[in-house]
Amino acid sequence: MTLSKAARDIWPKAYAPYSNFKVGAAIRAASGRVYVGVNVENVAYPEGTCAEAGAIAAMIAGGDTKIAEVYVIADSPDPVPPCGGCRQKLAEFAAGDVQVTMATIKGAEKTVRVSDLLPGAFGAGHMKDV
Ligand code: THU
Repeated sequence: MTLSKAARDIWPKAYAPYSNFKVGAAIRAASGRVYVGVNVENVAYPEGTCAEAGAIAAMIAGGDTKIAEVYVIADSPDPVPPCGGCRQKLAEFAAGDVQVTMATIKGAEKTVRVSDLLPGAFGAGHMKDV
């Protein structure tokens, strides 16, 4: 299954009754396994979670820890870049050269690298005892 199809197929299941902005994400782990996620909003707005965070949580629960590729899709005029928090979440499990493709339901795609999204990421190496 392509990442594009996995993200597009999961997208309708997003739970976004407050923003009405559904997002789907698919991650291919280094093992080759594909994990998907959607945004899940909450009536207490800050408790909502992004599609990328859902896919990362599924990946960790599935036993994988290395991201090889990311695909994010939304019904938006332009491809939607991951939020700041998700950039840091992706950087936790993806090398800087990992490709992140942002897509729209209408078919536009834009591909960048994790290091483009988060140059100078805070990393475990910055902490003395990690
Ligand atoms: N959202 C994501 O799930 N991923 C992104 O990359 C951008 C934004 C969600 C969060 C919220 O549920 C909705 O989109 C509007 O911000």
